[in-house]
Amino acid sequence: MSLKGKTAVVTGGGSGIGRACSVQLARDGAAVAVWDLNAESAAETVRLIEAEGGQAKAYIGDASDRASIEQILGRVRTELGPVLVLVNNAGITGFKAFLEISPEDLERIYRINLMGPFFLTQAAVPDMLAAGWGRIINISSSSAQTGAMGMTHYSSSKGGIVALTKSLAQEFAAQGITVNNIPPGFIDTPMTRSSPVDVDAIAAASPMKRAGKPEDIAAACGFLASEAAGYITGQTFGVNGGRVIY
Ligand SMILES: NC(=O)c1ccc[n+]([C@@H]2O[C@H](COP(=O)([O-])OP(=O)(O)OC[C@H]3O[C@@H](n4cnc5c(N)ncnc54)[C@H](O)[C@@H]3O)[C@@H](O)[C@H]2O)c1
Repeated sequence: MSLKGKTAVVTGGGSGIGRACSVQLARDGAAVAVWDLNAESAAETVRLIEAEGGQAKAYIGDASDRASIEQILGRVRTELGPVLVLVNNAGITGFKAFLEISPEDLERIYRINLMGPFFLTQAAVPDMLAAGWGRIINISSSSAQTGAMGMTHYSSSKGGIVALTKSLAQEFAAQGITVNNIPPGFIDTPMTRSSPVDVDAIAAASPMKRAGKPEDIAAACGFLASEAAGYITGQTFGVNGGRVIY
């Protein structure tokens, strides 16, 4: 329960990886702000946490919109407390040939996957500076490590997340704030199931012969948020069942 008395914000907390991270951080003692565009799924995550005796509250809005960020963070501070753990998880995927990606496609994916985490981190870091302690965990993608054909807008947005992580880690290391990213590699979530890939075939061909579970990412997220991970910062913490090994 190393996060007892601390507040965590998880964007995209209503589904897949974000839901599992929310549940894990609540088990570790945090009061969790489950932030999602989808009110019903965020409420379900809160129900799951409360059923285990944890503390959580749903916040509904666009985590890439600066006005929503200011408004929601203000409510989180009043209702749960200052934000000391931030999981930038909300994201969208995209599959399109490079030459067919429109400026609108690119702007949408960069806004949600890269600019949202940038603005939200800017808004939350003052709480961590005031406490002299903070944990920022960015959910990137193994596509940023390997590249991904037909996903250049997506993979480049996630490459930006890796660079953002490294730069923030250096900027705030002396203030007690760690910043790391987890690049999931093929996790079985609603996002994966709605994508035009054969989930079961890819799972069968992978080293562990299975897709990852959201809980596999959540375990790493819980560790990176913990006291025990206090000397780890700026890292890309792969959770991919051996699909990507450097
Ligand atoms: N599933 C994988 O294999 C995989 C692989 C690599 C990276 N990722 C990354 O992990 C993260 C979570 O993915 P997932 O598979 O759990 O996806 P998911 O689609 O199951 O869940 C994403 C959640 O984010 C919410 N969301 C989307 N845009 C939002 C916004 N602007 N504001 C607030 N909420 C928003 C959605 O409503 C949804 O509940 C994403 O950033 C994704 O790119 C996933």
